[in-house]
Amino acid sequence: MSDFLFGDKRPLILTVDDDEMNLLLMKRIFAKEADITCLNSGSNALAWLAENDPDIVLLDYHMPAPNGFDILRSMKADERLAKIPVIIVTGDIEAELECEGFMLGATDFIRKPFMPAVVQERVRRVLRYEYLQEHLESEVKRQTNLANQRLASIVRLYNETAFALAKAVDAKDAYTSGHSERVAKYSCMIAERSGATKKELEELYTIALLHDIGKIGIPIAIINKPARLTDEEYRIMKTHTTQGYNILHIIEEMPKLADGARSHHERYDGNGYPDHVAGEKIPQYARIISVADAYDAMTSRRSYRAAMPQARVRSEIEKGMGTQFDPAYAKIMLQLIDEDKDYTMRETQ
Ligand SMILES: [Fe+2]
Repeated sequence: MSDFLFGDKRPLILTVDDDEMNLLLMKRIFAKEADITCLNSGSNALAWLAENDPDIVLLDYHMPAPNGFDILRSMKADERLAKIPVIIVTGDIEAELECEGFMLGATDFIRKPFMPAVVQERVRRVLRYEYLQEHLESEVKRQTNLANQRLASIVRLYNETAFALAKAVDAKDAYTSGHSERVAKYSCMIAERSGATKKELEELYTIALLHDIGKIGIPIAIINKPARLTDEEYRIMKTHTTQGYNILHIIEEMPKLADGARSHHERYDGNGYPDHVAGEKIPQYARIISVADAYDAMTSRRSYRAAMPQARVRSEIEKGMGTQFDPAYAKIMLQLIDEDKDYTMRETQ
């Protein structure tokens, strides 16, 4: 006979039959590979089941009440016993009886008189199936947990890398410390009010965080020049958009990162750079970042000026509606300004 051992545990079999000869036969069949409890009545079986958890139950159908189906019914009604597989052993398997048994939750039927090899094989298969099912569930659960942990760690790594890159940019400019983070925050505030989903906000945060990444390639003398830039210096400064695009372009998983860096200086009227695109042709997230970027520039100190008064900032945003800015997002920015009674939304160093 094939082995009954699944894992390191001997299975516990309960067999119930009012015919002592059948019980003896069952005992002989299974004694070697399993622990077997043989009971000769339905009421004994119910009493035993109240305190034991067998791996499988073999029930004679024809017994003085409670018969095999009665026991099966009460097992299925008991949460602790409901999952235990039950095989009905009976001399007369009529179609209707068989159907009723399966509807009640029987796992299988064995016809009497039975061949020992058939009983062994049926029980072995049911036990193996149960064992695999139980362990498959726990294995799937374990692997899913592992995959989720790995995913969370990758997401953390991604976010921290984006932060580190943004800090590298901001560190270059003595006057724009924290700029990238604030622009990311303001962009999300605008997007949230325009109905962005949580996932879109998470994406936008990173796109905005890295919008100025191209400044890494701009000479520090130009970035930190305390005076007005010459035309040539300004031309070089403007290349931070395309340089940012070239840097982020290699991140194929998220092409919006590169587009955000490229398009955040486009203007709604088409007079921006580097591509001079207008209106809805400018990526939506770049139109949002553009408002947030301008707002932060005005509300931060510069080498040549302090942060602008809030009323002036408000009027500049208002003035830019439809020319520099997408009017929808500029309007939301105006609302945010109006609600910020104490002018807390600015660089606070
Ligand atoms: Fe920029």
